[in-house]
Amino acid sequence: MKPSVLMCAPEYFGVRYAINPWMEGKIGQVDSAVALRQWTEFYNVLQRQAEVHLIDTQSHVPDLVFTANAGLMFDGQFIPSRFKHEERRREEPLFREWFETRADQIIPLPKNIYFEGAGDALVQPGRKLVWAGFGFRTDWESHQFLADQLGLEVVSLHLIHPSFYHLDTCFCPLLDGQAMYYPAAFDAASLKSIEAHIRPENRIIVAEEDALHFACNAVLIDRTLFLNHAGPKLIQLLEQKGYTPIIQPVSEFLKAGGANKCLTLALT
Ligand code: ARG
Repeated sequence: MKPSVLMCAPEYFGVRYAINPWMEGKIGQVDSAVALRQWTEFYNVLQRQAEVHLIDTQSHVPDLVFTANAGLMFDGQFIPSRFKHEERRREEPLFREWFETRADQIIPLPKNIYFEGAGDALVQPGRKLVWAGFGFRTDWESHQFLADQLGLEVVSLHLIHPSFYHLDTCFCPLLDGQAMYYPAAFDAASLKSIEAHIRPENRIIVAEEDALHFACNAVLIDRTLFLNHAGPKLIQLLEQKGYTPIIQPVSEFLKAGGANKCLTLALT
């Protein structure tokens, strides 16, 4: 069965406020025609390997395209996000409405806790483990709640680099106990936690140049990895491990601080 993902067309996408370092100086700078073309090409290739659902957009939510932040879907259970920034809080009712008829169960967060969905919570394929980021958007207090509700072990990772403010910008769980990540985005204790769970031969260390082009923000479908950018070394490493990297440029979306993975939410 094809995996299902949620996307949102970029009709109203743009940088209209700045809530992360990528957006600073980029207000009004998105080329809508290029954004639409990049998004459509990504959508088209993804559609061959996944069932892609779409959520309708509205003019007051330019970041709704980043569906990864809708919440976390796991085993039919949906934990909706509570956004840190008021600008994105306007997306909450739209996502909630979409999931109301599609999730088996909606599990609301406890009061006053921030959680930005699959942007900060990544399930390790084949393991009962969720990696959860905190430090910028998601509160550490949400992590145990996730673990309890979903019946998973949670590993909390402290994000310390403002450009890598969501976990999915600097960490990507892969198959067979592997993961690729950008070490400078994490504090020392978090790196230790990663190393405690991922064996040395299973760690794919992403260099700064690749990380700054959102190489970690990759979408994994079967053994295909869709990413905005990867240099020759990273490509070679991924191929050696049996993956097929496909470069699918989404540079207009980087202006808002997101790339391929942020533009999708895994529904299955
Ligand atoms: N402009 C959006 C924000 O700052 C980008 C979100 C990127 N999403 C992600 N999953 N990393 O919230």
